[in-house]
Amino acid sequence: GPKAGAVDSQAQPQECRQHNADLERLVDTNDEWIVSRTGIRRRHILAQGESLADHALLAAQRALAAAGVPAADVDLVLLATSSPDDGFGTACAVQARLGAGNAAAFDLTAACSGFVMGVVTAAQFLRTGAYRNVLVIGADALSRYIDWRDRGTCILFGDGAGAVLLQAGGEGERDNLLGHDLRSDGNGQRHLHSRFLGAGDKALNDDTASSHPAFANIAMNGSEVFKFAVRAVPKTVEAALGVAQLEVKDLDWLVLHQANQRILTAAADRLGVPADRVISNLAEYGNTSAASIPLALDEAVRAGTIKQGDVVAIAGFGAGLSWAAAILRW
Ligand code: ACO
Repeated sequence: GPKAGAVDSQAQPQECRQHNADLERLVDTNDEWIVSRTGIRRRHILAQGESLADHALLAAQRALAAAGVPAADVDLVLLATSSPDDGFGTACAVQARLGAGNAAAFDLTAACSGFVMGVVTAAQFLRTGAYRNVLVIGADALSRYIDWRDRGTCILFGDGAGAVLLQAGGEGERDNLLGHDLRSDGNGQRHLHSRFLGAGDKALNDDTASSHPAFANIAMNGSEVFKFAVRAVPKTVEAALGVAQLEVKDLDWLVLHQANQRILTAAADRLGVPADRVISNLAEYGNTSAASIPLALDEAVRAGTIKQGDVVAIAGFGAGLSWAAAILRW
């Protein structure tokens, strides 16, 4: 089954932990508003000089250690990210530093749905018999695209990384990806985007083409994204359950993309999943985009909350618009 490893809060220097009170100094907001509207209390942002690959690597190393699989046995490194260190992708940098010399490596960009899309993609390589060990990393540093004057977005996002190792089963072993449902609707792109800055935008920034930032800061219509998430998440989880020939009552755990506590609660209510079956850690990390689900899985597995044999629904949603669910037997 999948084994998770994640970058935990202790792994980051203290000054990278950003409390709601720190944001009160940047924008007109307050801890009470942020906690009651989002559930977020703290988030981490990359330290000066740290790269996304640094964190993706740490998560990957911990996942391999938990699985007891050497890096040389990894066949594919799949990095779900929307904030790579390099425009050509960051998976290869992680592959090299990991010492996974036999692995192919590529990035997969699907915003906050990236990890679920990555897990389902990995499973296809395992099912065909092409590969035996696929490392799926979710890592994002959306702080790179944050306008620290925009209180509608700067309070939400944090940086982070998490990873799982997916392995092919032996002869006659059951497939632990029980069902999935992947969805996209590019018509909703206007509600959440970080647009490429082309030639016409250079004047806005710097006078040299090479030093202007590649992407504009995140622009988001929060209430539209909120409504979309509350509508789409229950439907995609139900669809994935249908493929698995299971029902909501068969779920042991619901692990949703950690965007906003109110979204988690509303989606779980609509599905009829009791609150004590819903994993939530966004108070500590904020919305870490593609990293949020593997971070939550890692904590829950290490705490003994998610146990072997449990049926877990994971679901991501976000920019694209994109949304996706997968039902896993742990
Ligand atoms: N502090 C204080 N007040 C604020 C803040 C803030 N940080 N932000 C907005 N407000 C004010 C607004 O100006 C508004 O004031 P008004 O009533 O005087 O006009 C009031 O609070 C309510 O604003 P809303 O935008 O309606 O607040 P809402 O309850 O919708 O919460 C939020 C906003 C938290 C952004 C919510 O809409 C949300 O979480 N949306 C989903 C966002 C999301 O998950 N995005 C990521 C998807 S993942 C990905 O792919 C990247």
